[in-house]
Amino acid sequence: MIGVIDSGLGGLSVLKEIHHLMPNHSLHYIGDSAWCPYGNKSYPEIQKRVSGIIDYLISNKAEIIVIACNSATIASVEYLRAEYPIPIVGMEPGVKPAVQITKTGTIGVFATEASLAGEKFHKLVTSHAQDIRVITQPCPEFVSHVEKGELDGAEVEKTIKKYAEPMLIGNADTIVLGCTHYPFLKNAISELYPEFSLIDTGVAVAKQVLRRAPSQDDNHPSPIFKFQTTGDAEHATKLLPELCSDFRQYRFDILYGI
Ligand code: DGL
Repeated sequence: MIGVIDSGLGGLSVLKEIHHLMPNHSLHYIGDSAWCPYGNKSYPEIQKRVSGIIDYLISNKAEIIVIACNSATIASVEYLRAEYPIPIVGMEPGVKPAVQITKTGTIGVFATEASLAGEKFHKLVTSHAQDIRVITQPCPEFVSHVEKGELDGAEVEKTIKKYAEPMLIGNADTIVLGCTHYPFLKNAISELYPEFSLIDTGVAVAKQVLRRAPSQDDNHPSPIFKFQTTGDAEHATKLLPELCSDFRQYRFDILYGI
């Protein structure tokens, strides 16, 4: 069983890639929507939430954990790897691939405040983007749009313009989507700004999960898929078909007590 965690529904953008690559593996997704966003929380607060969720996932037979959230990875992955005996795969904003494809020598990074403040993020930039100009932009409203299921329309466009204009003015040609909620707005961003190359790391993380996951037990060929949220289960269930069409008939259950 692969346990997948996010502050809310954003991690479904990663779960979907894991499922494409490993369709026979069981998945247990937990969205901590009652505590969303993580992007404005302190690292100790995020660590506490994520540890509670991992304990629950392990008690429900998770053999590997995917922190499908950049903020939670940056805030807690080292601590979690020291704490738990099972593999823990985290996210990393796609700065490395962005540096490889930029032609203007300027890249933009859309991420949460928590991610942009992290030492891990600063190290990533100093080691891989030394000769590159990096413009960073926290995008909290993207997370609210996705949590509400707003993936296009006038309000979304207004928000995209607010965050993307400084990138255009700064001559960035490549934008890292450094938060797992943002890939759900990829189409809306590309329609307004076709000149940007958008980078997200969902597929790269899924490949890493494939390398680290125990192989599926052949005696149990039918995978189990479980979706839980600490927030509004009806709302999450309603959004599931649009966010993750492979699981259109599945439901979110409420997760209490974490
Ligand atoms: N999906 C999350 C990330 O990748 C966090 C969004 C939030 O809760 O602020 O950073």
